Amino acid sequence: MDSSEPPSPRLSRPEGGAPLHCISPIRVSAKVTPNDPETSWMQRALALAEAAVGLTEPNPRVGCVIVSADGRTLLGQGHTQAAGQAHAEVMALRDAQAAGRELRGATAYVTLEPCAHHGRTPPCCDALIAAGLARVVVAVGDPNPAVNGQGVARLRAASIQVDWADAGLAQASREINLGFFSRMTRGHPWVRMKLAASLDGRTALENGQSQWITGEAARTDGHAWRKRAGAVLTGVGTVLADNTRMDVRLVPTARQPLRCVVDARLDTPATARLLDVPDAPVVFYCNEPTPERAAALQSRGADICRLPGLDSRVDLAAVLGDLARRQVNELHLEAGQRLNAAWLQAGLVDELLLYQAPMLVGAGQGLAALGPYSALAQAARWRYHTVDRVGDDLRLLLRQPT
Ligand SMILES: NC(=O)c1ccc[n+]([C@@H]2O[C@H](COP(=O)([O-])OP(=O)(O)OC[C@H]3O[C@@H](n4cnc5c(N)ncnc54)[C@H](OP(=O)(O)O)[C@@H]3O)[C@@H](O)[C@H]2O)c1
Repeated sequence: MDSSEPPSPRLSRPEGGAPLHCISPIRVSAKVTPNDPETSWMQRALALAEAAVGLTEPNPRVGCVIVSADGRTLLGQGHTQAAGQAHAEVMALRDAQAAGRELRGATAYVTLEPCAHHGRTPPCCDALIAAGLARVVVAVGDPNPAVNGQGVARLRAASIQVDWADAGLAQASREINLGFFSRMTRGHPWVRMKLAASLDGRTALENGQSQWITGEAARTDGHAWRKRAGAVLTGVGTVLADNTRMDVRLVPTARQPLRCVVDARLDTPATARLLDVPDAPVVFYCNEPTPERAAALQSRGADICRLPGLDSRVDLAAVLGDLARRQVNELHLEAGQRLNAAWLQAGLVDELLLYQAPMLVGAGQGLAALGPYSALAQAARWRYHTVDRVGDDLRLLLRQPT
C-alpha cells in the first residue's frame, strides 16, 4: 500500500478467533499534535492495540506499525495474538514480508517496549534486528521485570535508533493496558466495580428484582467491559437472586473471562446456571466449605479455593492475591450491595463503572451497603474520569482522586 498519509486502520483478526468488535470503552486522552505523521502512525498502532482487547490476556495489548524509511508508506501492521502466539512486532513483520515489502531501514512504531526475553515466544527485539530495521519508536516502557528497559537496550546495542513517543501517547498505551501495569507494578489486578442503578441510586427493588434497570445498549456495553477483564466476580447473594451466568454473551469474544463467586459457605447450588457455560471455568472463594457442598460444585467443574477469613467472610485481599497468581490483569466486579460494600471498605477498588438509568425506583437496594456514617467526611470521594451517554442511560467512569 502506498500512501503519503497514514490510512485508517485495517485491523487484522485474531488467528482463528471471532471477528473483532471495536467497542472502545476506555476513552484515551492522548494530547497529540494534529497532522504530525509520527503521532498518526503511533495512533494507528494504538488502535491496533485496542483491537487486541479480550484476546491477549494475560499478555498486554500491543499494536505495531512498520513504515518505510521516508515515513510515507505503510509496510506492515499487527497486534498481539492470544497468549503463546505471535506478538505485535512479529505480526507486523509477517504482514510486510507476506506482501514482499523491503524492511531494511524501516521504522517500527510499537505501543509497548519490545520484549527481550524468551517467554512463550522468542524475543521480539531479535525479530526486529534480524529484519534490518533502522529505528523503533516506543510509546511506553514495559513494566514487566523480564523486559523493563532491556528491550530498548538490546535494540540500541544492535545500532537501532530508539525514540520515545510523547507523554500523551505513552499515557494512551498505559490506559489500554492499565490492568497489566497494575499487576506488574502493584502485584495485583486493576479492580473495576460495575454498577447499574436508577437515578435515585437503586440497584434492585426491595424484593431483589433488578432486571432490567438499564437499557439494552448499556447492558451490551457492560458485556464489552466483562470481555476486557481477565476475571468477572460476583457474590453468592447475586447468584441466588438472579441465577446469573456472568459470561460474555452480548458482544463477540475470542475467550471467556474466569468467573468467580465469593461464597463463604458454598451456598451456591450445583444446579446454578453459571456452571452450565462450557469451557469457562468458575472459581468459588470460600472459607467454611462443607465437604459435601465442595464435592457437588467440583463435580460440575468448579474450582474451590479456600482462603482465610473471619466470621463467614473471605479476605478480599487474599482473593486479589490469588487472581494475581492466576495472571488476571483486570478484575470486573459485578455484585450486590453487600459484597460491593466489603470491597469498598477494604479499599481495593480502583474504578467505578456506573450506568445510571433515567428512572426513579423509590425504596430498594443501594449501590453499596456502607455506613451509616455520622459525618460526611467519613464518605469516600471519587473523581469523574469520563461521562458518556450509552443509549438512554449515562455511563460514568470514576477513579480514586489523584
Ligand atoms: N444493578 C446492579 O448493578 C446489580 C449487580 C449485581 C447484583 N445486583 C442485585 O443485588 C442483589 C443481591 O445483593 P446481595 O447484597 O444479596 O448480593 P452480593 O453482594 O452479590 O452477595 C452478598 C453475599 O456476599 C457475602 N459477602 C460479603 N462480603 C463477603 C466477604 N468478604 N466474604 C464472604 N462473603 C461476603 C454476604 O455476606 P453477609 O451477609 O455476611 O454480608 C452475602 O452473603 C440482587 O437483587 C441482584 O439483582 C444488582
